[in-house]
Amino acid sequence: MKLTSRSVSLVPIVATASAAALGAVLVVSAPASAATTLGAAAAQSGRYFGTAVAAGKLNDQTYVNILNTEFNMVTAENEMKWDATEPNRGQFTYSGGDRVLNQAVSNGKRVRGHALLWHQQEPGWAQRMEGSDLRQAMMNHVTQVATHYKGKIYAWDVVNEAFADGGSGGRRDSNLQRTGNDWIEAAFRAARAADPAAKLCYNDYNTDSINPKSTGIYNMVRDFKSRGVPIDCVGFQAHLTNTAPSDYQANLQRFANLGVEVQITELDISGSNQANAYGAVTRACMAVRACAGITVWGIRDTDSWRTGQNPLLFTGSGAKKAAYNSVLDALNAGGTGPTTTTTTTSNDPGPGGCTASVSLNQWDGGFVATVKVTAGSRALNGWRVTTTLSNGTVTSSWSSNRSGTSGTVTFTNVDYNGAVPAGQSTEFGFQGTGSGSGLNPTCAAT
Ligand code: XIL
Repeated sequence: MKLTSRSVSLVPIVATASAAALGAVLVVSAPASAATTLGAAAAQSGRYFGTAVAAGKLNDQTYVNILNTEFNMVTAENEMKWDATEPNRGQFTYSGGDRVLNQAVSNGKRVRGHALLWHQQEPGWAQRMEGSDLRQAMMNHVTQVATHYKGKIYAWDVVNEAFADGGSGGRRDSNLQRTGNDWIEAAFRAARAADPAAKLCYNDYNTDSINPKSTGIYNMVRDFKSRGVPIDCVGFQAHLTNTAPSDYQANLQRFANLGVEVQITELDISGSNQANAYGAVTRACMAVRACAGITVWGIRDTDSWRTGQNPLLFTGSGAKKAAYNSVLDALNAGGTGPTTTTTTTSNDPGPGGCTASVSLNQWDGGFVATVKVTAGSRALNGWRVTTTLSNGTVTSSWSSNRSGTSGTVTFTNVDYNGAVPAGQSTEFGFQGTGSGSGLNPTCAAT
């Protein structure tokens, strides 16, 4: 679709809640004209589009032409990892990493740093270490590498893949983890001290839906935010097969609601539904304001670490695939898809009461609603929010207990967000199909 105007308008809506209510609809339209490269299309909404780059391919002309034309963010595929940067303890080599970084910067691209601490691709000497000696070596590694690249990195994957797969929601066992559960926050603090300008991310895979692993990470990020541990972003690797989970966007949104940026960091998708799935992932990012950008894990299918699965946007000979067009179209559709509505319903916040307001992200066929519960002049011990869904159906919700899926849908606090100090707020959310308009949330203390 090609749009010729750019407009931002505020249109008042009529609220029908019983108590005093006010609201506004924010409609953000698409950019002036469709862009023809991934990077330029993403930039229209302030986002980036990146790729993993291997230093050894920087003299392949086809590779470099696509890299320079299409992408405006770069991640070194292996060159900034621990085994590459500190092959012997205390002896640092940055030749590969610098090569990738310098190629990117001299062509106007930004760089994501990947990765300071990871249980894989540890150098042999670190694999053989444990305890306080290892902890010291880990933190020195973070400090040295982040200092070498100080001021040059958009975002660092400070810690990669520290959570276990499966239902535990807990940490993965590794020699890093066995130095003490606080190793992740120690790493973030060391990285912040070394490079205060870089955004600091936690990065992982199998986190593409609301599942025990992503919820474990969500809980860690919430804890870090509440205790002032410096974390700015969460990376979702998104190594997918055939589809994006139906709650992909809702999962990104719940992290965004914690006050961190979300980034899709290593996207690749195999399977016959690839083009559709790439479109769905891109639309999900575009619909989440805090989704800063997307990085694909390689350029051509032949560059992929998933040998034989052809999960990327270009063929081995460098031709654009159907998946490329899906992504480009979704980036160019920009803000026209979702519209954001904010309604505030005031339910007499007086002593012991509460108010609920909803921020609605609506697109063709679905929505994500983020509801803010604010205590009145007395603290809440628990709350209940009642909403009306006349033309929509809830498919998932988070940070609340829910009863119902359409018509009158009621949400109550979960154990960690029932206590809200006077005048303070907490948030929960839900996503659904159809329309989320006319929710008119009302709040009651319980
Ligand atoms: C992969 C690289 O693409 C390969 O070249 C290398 O042999 C192994 O690592 N998650 C990550 C990435 O965070 O660093 C991995 O990259 C892919 C999985």
